Amino acid sequence: MKYTLDYIKTYTEDFEPEIGIVLGSGLGELADKYQEFAIPYKQIPRFPRLQGVEGHKGQLVFANIVGRKVVMMQGRMHYYEGYSMEQVTYPIRVMKELGVNTLILTNAAGIVNKSFRPGDLMVITDHINFMGNNPLIGKNNERYGARFPDMSEVYDKGLVKIADAAGRLLNMNLRHGVYMATTGPSYETPAEVIMARSIGADAVGMSTVPEAIIANHCGMKIIGLSCLTNYAAGVSEKKLNHEEVLKTANEVKDKFIALIMMILQNVK
Ligand code: HPA
Repeated sequence: MKYTLDYIKTYTEDFEPEIGIVLGSGLGELADKYQEFAIPYKQIPRFPRLQGVEGHKGQLVFANIVGRKVVMMQGRMHYYEGYSMEQVTYPIRVMKELGVNTLILTNAAGIVNKSFRPGDLMVITDHINFMGNNPLIGKNNERYGARFPDMSEVYDKGLVKIADAAGRLLNMNLRHGVYMATTGPSYETPAEVIMARSIGADAVGMSTVPEAIIANHCGMKIIGLSCLTNYAAGVSEKKLNHEEVLKTANEVKDKFIALIMMILQNVK
């Protein structure tokens, strides 16, 4: 961690980000638009290198957005790419060390709740970790948090309210729901989607939960936002493909970025 931070601080100097944003599919534009300076992951000591998934860049982007100092991950590491849980979540602890206390996690997800529609945005109110792994397994680093961290309010209720208010102002039909994470990379089977619904999931995806567990452990306030890109398997007749996910994410990105900006404006 020390080498990582020493290197990053040669760029940041007195720029201390207060809010971190993990940008999911289609949201790279927010980073492109506001970037003041950026550090490619591959230059940062101990930082995991990004493997090429279409639509992801691979850099930490520092910016001033609506008067807030933010650090963004333009491109995230996914567990299905073969990274360890530690690698997937390492950037979250880096953000914490840089001074971030509020974290905005975004993603693309499949619809499990039949009342939702592709293109809807969803505020994550809770999650189900169905990855069969946990980034906190192993020796606990007391510097960050407790061995057995409480998870009864991972997604900050105050931030949910701020998102709701922003959604109303922007005339969005913002959904609330439980996000279930699987490892991927295969999409779910229809039977798995029925199971997801029966255990309380509204959306399903392949990210976010490891980052949320690590951020919660070290006491960050978290808000999770999902772009619902497609009906999960079996919810509609259609077969799933990554192109459709990217297409919907791209169609919704202006709306999604507007929501994030309004949330940034109102975060305390
Ligand atoms: N399942 C899992 N992850 C996803 C999906 C899905 O249907 N859509 C986007 N990410």
